[in-house]
Amino acid sequence: MSSKSVVTIERHIIEAERQFPEATGAFSSILYDVAFAAKMIAREVRRAGLADVLGYTGEVNVQGEEVKKLDEFAHEVIFKALDHTGHLCGMASEEVEDFISIPDRFPTGKYCVLFDPLDGSSNIEANVSVGTIFSIHRKVSDHPRGCVEDCLQPGYKQVAAGYVVYGSSTMLVYTTGNGVHGFTLEPSIGEFLLSHPNIRIPSPGQRIYSVNEGNYGKWFPGQQRLVDHLKGQDGGPQKPFSARYIGSLVADFHRNLLYGGMFMYPADAKSPNGKLRLLYEAAPLAMIAEHAGGRASDGTGPINQIMPRSLHQRTPLYIGTTEFVQMAEQFLAEDRTVEPEAVSIEAIAAGV
Ligand code: AHG
Ligand code: MN
Ligand code: MN
Repeated sequence: MSSKSVVTIERHIIEAERQFPEATGAFSSILYDVAFAAKMIAREVRRAGLADVLGYTGEVNVQGEEVKKLDEFAHEVIFKALDHTGHLCGMASEEVEDFISIPDRFPTGKYCVLFDPLDGSSNIEANVSVGTIFSIHRKVSDHPRGCVEDCLQPGYKQVAAGYVVYGSSTMLVYTTGNGVHGFTLEPSIGEFLLSHPNIRIPSPGQRIYSVNEGNYGKWFPGQQRLVDHLKGQDGGPQKPFSARYIGSLVADFHRNLLYGGMFMYPADAKSPNGKLRLLYEAAPLAMIAEHAGGRASDGTGPINQIMPRSLHQRTPLYIGTTEFVQMAEQFLAEDRTVEPEAVSIEAIAAGV
């Protein structure tokens, strides 16, 4: 038998908490509850191929009950795992428009949790990896039961962040600022076991870029030049990068975290802020990337320095191996130094 000890996520969280004698256990308990919700979601995701058979279609089933879609189901599981614990002053979810208050019948606490319950949900029918992303902040408002201000905090203030990837196995990866640690679900005993302690983005690692290149024609010139460069199409001496794009942010990010690489979701003429959400997607993954030795940027600077103005704010995202993200920032900066093209009086008069 191996001499390595088996560490459950519960044990890992408790050991980490011991380093803070003043800790009340509230924070550990939130992490544990998120891990519990992840197991519930993993179980449903495993049965997703049976959606039509079992009726998980978002429509009314034969009993006349409305059957939830998987992303709404995932939202509810997380909400219900956390609403009654007394540790939270509120939540925010990609699936809900406004700040989510704790029901009046439950006590409140000093943290808030923000989450993308099911990331990459359009992939679910095709049996492709999906995920859950979460972010934890300390309560900062004076409101006795919390308010939106508690969620609208810049990423560098996160006290923990993590994600779950429902792939060939289910993995939970999280950081509290003291290393990035990955756990794999052992389904037969229902426990997350420490499988990837102290994850670091390999450097030098693999040269991978992940982007929806179908949008090339809409991109700004700097983004186009960057991708041309990564492909070695600009006459540079470098060996081309490999392209890998799943279309599930969590899965694309996870692969690049383990192998090396950069995920991009740029701004373009149609979506000047890109597609991804700052608070539910970019900021938590940025915390993980940074604590694994990587970088996350909106193309101009660190994601986690952005002061959010609204819950569902979007941001361009460049995340992964530090030197690749810095290279992206340099290419994009060139666009900003180019003088805007002179616009002719005739063009203005013609309303162009
Ligand atoms: P969600 O399923 O939470 O709405 O997120 C989908 C996101 C993200 O997972 C992925 O990276 C991106 O959408 C893919 O977008 P495109 O289809 O535009 O490439
Ligand atoms: Mn998402
Ligand atoms: Mn989602």
